[in-house]
Amino acid sequence: MQLRDKRAVITGAASGLGEAIALGFAAQGARLWLIDRDAEGLRRMALACTQTGLEVGTSVADLATAEQPEQAIEQALAGLGGIDILVNSAGIAGQGSCLELTIEQWDQMLAIDLRSVFLCCRQALPAMIAQRWGWIINIASQLGIKGAPELSYYAAAKAGVIGFSKSLALEVVQHNVLVNVIAPGPVETPMLGDISAGWKAAKAAELPLGRFGRPEELVPSAVLLASEPGGNLYLGQMLGPNLGDVMP
Ligand SMILES: NC(=O)c1ccc[n+]([C@@H]2O[C@H](COP(=O)([O-])OP(=O)(O)OC[C@H]3O[C@@H](n4cnc5c(N)ncnc54)[C@H](O)[C@@H]3O)[C@@H](O)[C@H]2O)c1
Repeated sequence: MQLRDKRAVITGAASGLGEAIALGFAAQGARLWLIDRDAEGLRRMALACTQTGLEVGTSVADLATAEQPEQAIEQALAGLGGIDILVNSAGIAGQGSCLELTIEQWDQMLAIDLRSVFLCCRQALPAMIAQRWGWIINIASQLGIKGAPELSYYAAAKAGVIGFSKSLALEVVQHNVLVNVIAPGPVETPMLGDISAGWKAAKAAELPLGRFGRPEELVPSAVLLASEPGGNLYLGQMLGPNLGDVMP
């Protein structure tokens, strides 16, 4: 019960890593507010988390918009009475050569995978600063470090998350708010449905561990960064559960 009674907000909680982290945080005693655009997925998740006997609230929001991230965080603040932990996991993937990418595809990718992280952090921070504690965990990707063919817009967004998080970490540490990043390697989630079988086979072949990860294998990294004393000394760091794909 490393997160007993901590108030945790998780975006992208209806699927994949966000879902696994929500279930993992519930198992550690956290009170949850789950945000996603997938209303049905949120209903399913709320039911699953409620079975642990803990309080769970949800907001259906399209985080690619300018307004809805702020509204969803406001709902979480009101529903939980504050926020101790914010995990930004919502995201999309996509595939296309740079020469073929449209401005609409580029903007959509950056709106959800990068701008929503900024907007959710900005909205949650005043309450964290006022209470003088908070933990923010932004989910990037190892591709934000090493890049990948046909994923330039995804890698650009994830590199942005890493740079944003390091800078924010330096801005808010004076208020005892710790900002860190998890940059996973490939994990078997519905997101990979957006990526071609050929790309995935080539990727699996180059991974030193020789396989993709499972969502639940990411949970201990998130619990570590959100817990005391485990996360106390992490600031602006990037945990890399990436199957050996990058060794920074
Ligand atoms: N799966 C991987 O291999 C992998 C690797 C590295 C990083 N990541 C990152 O992990 C995070 C989670 O990915 P995942 O694999 O769990 O994907 P996923 O598709 O399983 O889950 C993503 C969730 O985000 C939600 N979402 C997408 N767009 C949204 C929007 N506009 N508004 C609100 N919610 C939205 C989806 O509804 C979904 O529930 C992403 O940021 C992704 O880039 C994933």
